[in-house]
Amino acid sequence: MKKLIIGLGTVGTAILEDLQEKDFAGIDINQEKVKDLYQKGLINEEGSFNRKYSHIVITVNSTNLVLNILGKLNYELNPLVCIESTICPSAVGKVIDQFGKKCKLAVFPHRYFSKDRTKRVFNLKRVCGLYNCSEENFFSLYGDNLPKENVLFTTPFLAALSKIVENAYRYLEISIAEELKLLCNKKNIDFEELRMLVNSKWNINMLEARDGIKGSCLNNDILTFIEFLEVRKISLFKTAIDIDNKYKGILERRTLTRSGNYRW
Ligand SMILES: NC(=O)c1ccc[n+]([C@@H]2O[C@H](COP(=O)([O-])OP(=O)(O)OC[C@H]3O[C@@H](n4cnc5c(N)ncnc54)[C@H](O)[C@@H]3O)[C@@H](O)[C@H]2O)c1
Repeated sequence: MKKLIIGLGTVGTAILEDLQEKDFAGIDINQEKVKDLYQKGLINEEGSFNRKYSHIVITVNSTNLVLNILGKLNYELNPLVCIESTICPSAVGKVIDQFGKKCKLAVFPHRYFSKDRTKRVFNLKRVCGLYNCSEENFFSLYGDNLPKENVLFTTPFLAALSKIVENAYRYLEISIAEELKLLCNKKNIDFEELRMLVNSKWNINMLEARDGIKGSCLNNDILTFIEFLEVRKISLFKTAIDIDNKYKGILERRTLTRSGNYRW
């Protein structure tokens, strides 16, 4: 079995770090990353698009890059191609039409929390969509590293869609807390104390309002969600983006005038 991983960024590196066996070759457009991971023993060699592999993992950072890479792979061994990047659900049909007959396909998006190693890669529940690929084939990719009970199987389309929906939903939840915090500040109400009281109800879990929704995942995925689902004018999800922008703007202005008499 020869294995290849393409995209040695945050997610690609995390996969390699958490694997017991270091049996992957690696490709990245950034040669420094290839050299660094080879020196650390995380990849066994630099990979090549011309070589034959039985297992190929893709963790580059956009749908277009994934499509571009799929067009360059060597399919001679009918490899298992596992797309772990977040991809737009609208691209799934295209992927299946163009490449579905040449390989065993898995769409296996990440849920990844960089600050906590216990919530990443193999040790949390993840959704996987298979096409032309048995569950047994899929589990041959990571062997014992990936507990079978951590994988929920579905179609590739639903795997891709569930990824952006979970992040859009999370975005919405955070924006609710942000709006409540802004409203509380206007009325001089202690938001944290109010949150603690409200959260004592069994079916409520109001999130914290921190420093605005940061990072590319939540911000990109809600936009993909809005575009793919053709969200129209009246929408909680669109309003959530406005609330977050307002919240961030107010926070920024607060920092700027910290020495003066600041009012929210
Ligand atoms: N980082 C996270 O917390 C996180 C969480 C969940 C999902 N994701 C998803 O995982 C995917 C990867 O995210 P990431 O954070 O690892 O991104 P990243 O930017 O850290 O890494 C992507 C890597 O791909 C490489 N690359 C780009 N184009 C390439 C090409 N044509 N050939 C070879 N290598 C190429 C880049 O040089 C980079 O090293 C994205 O789809 C992202 O949405 C990320």
